[in-house]
Amino acid sequence: MEQTLSIIKPDAVKKGVVGKILDRFETNGLRIAATRKMQLSQADAEAFYAVHSHRPFFKDLVEFMISGPVVVSVLEGENAVLKNRELMGATNPKEAAAGTIRADFAESIDANAVHGSDSLENAKIEIEFFFSKREIC
Ligand code: CMP
Repeated sequence: MEQTLSIIKPDAVKKGVVGKILDRFETNGLRIAATRKMQLSQADAEAFYAVHSHRPFFKDLVEFMISGPVVVSVLEGENAVLKNRELMGATNPKEAAAGTIRADFAESIDANAVHGSDSLENAKIEIEFFFSKREIC
């Protein structure tokens, strides 16, 4: 059993497809062990994406992530990290395979509907960033 962190980003929340995206997780064997809708502060977004702080897209990424509420979740299941990445599709929706979340709901590489942890190691860090132990059940 693995756990991974999912963020439904402001574009998808604004579009009203939170339920549709959570349904994809549940119907594909990922249990929702924790979930919360929240508004990220600039400090939250900068800290969460600190690994990208030297990338040219960092400022736009932070601005976008605080442009509206997000839904953060802990997803649990066998190979959860990889399974979530498969369900999301490629980072750039133009390259995302048909039937993936990004192909169906995302507009651009910035407004790409969802974030998912890229490794088990980062999943642990990202889950701890958003949730306390007693919120995950
Ligand atoms: P995410 O999985 O949330 O991780 C970092 C985000 O930066 C990524 O999704 C994209 O939304 C955004 N981004 C913007 N430009 C790029 C780029 N050139 N390469 C990777 N990520 C990018």
